[in-house]
Amino acid sequence: MSNNAPVFVRTASARDIGTIRALLLETWHDTYDAIYGADRVTAITEEWHSTEALADRLNRPNSEFLVADDGEEIAGMAFASAADEGKTVLLHQLYVKPGRQGQGIGGLLLDEIEGCFPDADKVRLEVEEQNSRAVRFYLSQGFARAGATQDCGAKQSGIPAAIYERPVVWM
Ligand SMILES: CC(C)(COP(=O)(O)OP(=O)(O)OC[C@H]1O[C@@H](n2cnc3c(N)ncnc32)[C@H](O)[C@@H]1OP(=O)(O)O)[C@@H](O)C(=O)NCCC(=O)NCCS
Repeated sequence: MSNNAPVFVRTASARDIGTIRALLLETWHDTYDAIYGADRVTAITEEWHSTEALADRLNRPNSEFLVADDGEEIAGMAFASAADEGKTVLLHQLYVKPGRQGQGIGGLLLDEIEGCFPDADKVRLEVEEQNSRAVRFYLSQGFARAGATQDCGAKQSGIPAAIYERPVVWM
């Protein structure tokens, strides 16, 4: 049975780490196996989404770690930090469980995390160009291509990606 229960967005806590790890593992294999191969995806997620790596993000200064929770499960997560003295939000992670995609949860997390940085005038992210669903999503959310990197996600990762940005419009 498909689940489309309404979610609320809240700050992630140490209790959520195991659930977030499982969400990232499932979503990474679903999204990237066809692009990088399952073995490489397993290796990357073991390193980037270890318990230690995720716990470190909970306590990082000038950052926000949010989850979309429906009371029964965590359907999505987002992690971002401030750069350029708060003027730029770097969106490091935005992941919605495969079974919960296309329900507005990604857009909700994106808007909520942007709102956590009141000095920001733009949001920047890196996206794998072959990840056409994500590229389409970001274009529909007002992002435009602003460049490229050869080291997505981590220094010397060797993973190429496009850089997308959107201006922050305060209402
Ligand atoms: C890319 C991703 C974050 C988008 O999140 P999402 O929750 O699926 O996105 P949304 O539901 O907010 O929006 C997706 C589409 O559903 C539509 N939608 C929004 N609310 C909806 C609703 N209540 N019911 C049905 N459709 C809806 C949106 O209009 C959007 O359509 P569009 O892309 O044609 O504009 C998500 O698909 C994901 O995690 N993908 C795998 C991992 C990934 O690629 N992450 C990004 C790495 S850079």
